[in-house]
Amino acid sequence: MSRIVVTGGTGYIGSHTVVELIQSGFDITIIDNLSNSEIEVLSGIERITGVRPDFENIDCTDYMNLDKMLEKYTDIEGIIHFAASKSVGESVQNPLLYYHNNISSLINLLELMPKHNIRHIVFSSSCTVYGQPDHMPVNENAPIKPALSPYGNTKQICEEIIRDTIHATPQINATILRYFNPIGAHPTALIGELPNGIPNNLLPFITQTAAGLRSELRVFGNDYDTPDGSCIRDYIYVVDLAKAHVAALQHMLAGKKNGQLDYYNLGTGRGLSVLEILDMFQKVNDVKVPYKIVERREGDIEQVWADSSKANKELNWKADTPLEDILRSCWQWELHLKERREQAQAQ
Ligand code: WQD
Repeated sequence: MSRIVVTGGTGYIGSHTVVELIQSGFDITIIDNLSNSEIEVLSGIERITGVRPDFENIDCTDYMNLDKMLEKYTDIEGIIHFAASKSVGESVQNPLLYYHNNISSLINLLELMPKHNIRHIVFSSSCTVYGQPDHMPVNENAPIKPALSPYGNTKQICEEIIRDTIHATPQINATILRYFNPIGAHPTALIGELPNGIPNNLLPFITQTAAGLRSELRVFGNDYDTPDGSCIRDYIYVVDLAKAHVAALQHMLAGKKNGQLDYYNLGTGRGLSVLEILDMFQKVNDVKVPYKIVERREGDIEQVWADSSKANKELNWKADTPLEDILRSCWQWELHLKERREQAQAQ
């Protein structure tokens, strides 16, 4: 059996990827410091798959403990590295937290891979590295533009560190996955996004408003140069995104070359505006979401959506879940959280 280490595996995308990896026959060890996730996610994964993954409560910036933990396993084929701080706004307020956490954790893993004979790493990156692309849809050859936030800059720096390390250390291979906008929850509604406090991202704010946790959604600007004036994004189902990680890993494990570095844009190829997805969410779930148009949010780009044809072809992968099903999964997950809160209050 092949063992895969998943850092940040109790997080939103990490937990959905662990489910797909287990269901594809991999043994899993999750490394997570639980700074932005809950240990109960392991139970959700177990209820879905029947398997409770090994779990190590370790901070990836802690070289010594990371090294000691990797010593325990002799069958690690690869690492999928999700563990990182990811709030654009927070990174502007606290850049050093982001540079330390996001960059040191990657450097530790890259240093330890040859030592523990781990040959493959999949890195969680973001379309944010492109800034506002000049042409749409955006493919992997689009220029990398100056980052608009320390968070985005850490993704660019990490990609460069991986590129230079692979060049110098041909015994390891890397795949860099650039996500567009992940949304939705597992169809069982047993795992999903667990935003800390007030959600930064659009969909959790929509679902919390629909559930009555928020009074209204603020739409950040409708004066952009888009058909309805609101920003356009490529919203990709988190389960489709998780499956892309399995496909990328299997592509690497099947490969014979060393020192291989590949980049893939992971999106649907479909651009949707804020107002369009808001309207669709209300229709699909038969709920009302009060909202008001407010001023633009600093740092937002106007429009971006993916050309994922390279991943479609080389990974034999496609994000094809219908939008209606994705938006239903968002709402079912919010209802599950509501039920959990009510059960906790009743105790
Ligand atoms: C989407 C659209 C907002 C909230 C960020 C990161 C990216 C990735 C995903 C980590 C924008 C609008 C949002 C709200 C709104 N994160 N919006 N009201 O900014 O595209 O991407 O999150 O990997 O790297 O940059 O996602 O969901 O925050 O915003 O109008 O309350 O929704 O203006 O147009 P974004 P988002």
